[in-house]
Amino acid sequence: MILVTGGAGYIGSHVVLRLLEESDKDLVVFDNLETGHMSTIETLRSVRNFDFVRGNLKNPSDLEKLFKGFDVDSVIHFAAYIRVEESVKNPRKYYSNNLVGTINLLNKMVDHDVKRIVFSSTAAVYGEPKYVPIDESHPRQPINPYGKTKLMVEEILDDYDRAYDLKSIRLRYFNVAGADSENRIGESHIPETHLIPNILASAKDPNKVFNLFGDDYDTKDGTCVRDYVNIEDLASAHILALKYLEKTNQSDCFNIGTKNGSTVKEVFDACKKVTNEKINLKINPRRDGDPQSLVADNEKAKSILNWQPENTLLDSIKTAYAWLKK
Ligand code: UFG
Repeated sequence: MILVTGGAGYIGSHVVLRLLEESDKDLVVFDNLETGHMSTIETLRSVRNFDFVRGNLKNPSDLEKLFKGFDVDSVIHFAAYIRVEESVKNPRKYYSNNLVGTINLLNKMVDHDVKRIVFSSTAAVYGEPKYVPIDESHPRQPINPYGKTKLMVEEILDDYDRAYDLKSIRLRYFNVAGADSENRIGESHIPETHLIPNILASAKDPNKVFNLFGDDYDTKDGTCVRDYVNIEDLASAHILALKYLEKTNQSDCFNIGTKNGSTVKEVFDACKKVTNEKINLKINPRRDGDPQSLVADNEKAKSILNWQPENTLLDSIKTAYAWLKK
C-alpha cells in the first residue's frame, strides 16, 4: 500500500489521481486539510475509492495510528508549507512542520520497516543560481528557510539510507503549473501567490489588476525567468520515481523541469493569448527573495527515469484557466 502525505493539496492530489488511474495498489492519503481540500478527496474518491486519514505530521501519535492501521510499503511525501516569503517571516512554522514533521514521518517509517520514500524537494535548495540551466550537482545554498528545510531533509535522507537502509528519491521541482486535463481537480491556494493563477484571476475579473514584481532584472525583458513544468508531467515523474525505487533500490535526486525558461512578461502574454482577454497590469518593485533566473537541466531525469515533459506552457495555462473558470 502507498501512503501519500498531503494528498489533498495541489501537487499531491494530481499524483493521487494518476495512481488511482494507473496503479493497482491500494492508497492511503494522510492530510490535515489545513491547505488541502476535502472536496478534492471526494472528487478523487469518485475515480477509485481509497482510505483517507485526517492527521498531523507534528503528532507522532497520529502517525503511529496510521502506520499501525495500514500496511504501508512506500511513501510519497508532499505535506509541507510552500511559501518562500512566509518562511522568511515565520521560520518556526517551516522548521516545525517541514523539518520536524518530516523527521517524525521518517522515524515512523524506520520503526515500521517501511523502506521507500519519494520526497518533494525543490529548486529552492540551490539558492541563487551560479549558472543556468541548473543541474543536480549545482551547489546547494538555499537562501530562505523554506529551501533550507528541504535541503536538511535531503541530508537526513542520506543519513537514514546509510544507517537504516531507507531509500529515497528526491524530486527537485521547478515551477509547477496547470491542472488535470479533464478538469476534475486543479490549483486552489488561499491566498494565491503563484504567477499563472494570479494572471488568470485578473483575466477572469476585469476589476482585478495583475501585479508584476520587478522589471529591472538582467534578463531579456527585465522580468524574472522561471521553468514552468506541467502538473501532469510532474505526476508522471512521481510514478516513474517510485518504479525506479522499487526496481533499483537506490537513492537519488532529480530535477523536474523543462529546460525552457520563460520570463514573467512572456507568461503574461501567453495568458492573454489563451484567455483572449485584456488583463490589467501594474509593474511593482521586486519581490523579496526572488532569484533572477531558475531553469532546470533535466537530462538526468530524462536519461535515468526515462521521464519526458510532454505539455507546453500554453497547455498548462489552458488547463489552469479551465479549472479557474469551473
Ligand atoms: N510573480 C509576479 N506576480 C505575482 C506572482 C508572481 O510578478 O502575482 C512573479 C514572481 O516575482 C516570480 C515569478 O512570477 O518572478 C514566479 O513566481 P511564483 O510565486 O509563481 O513562483 P516562485 O518561483 O516564486 O516559487 C516557486 C514555487 C514555490 C516554491 C519556489 C521555490 O511556486 O511554491 O518556487 O523556489 F516554493
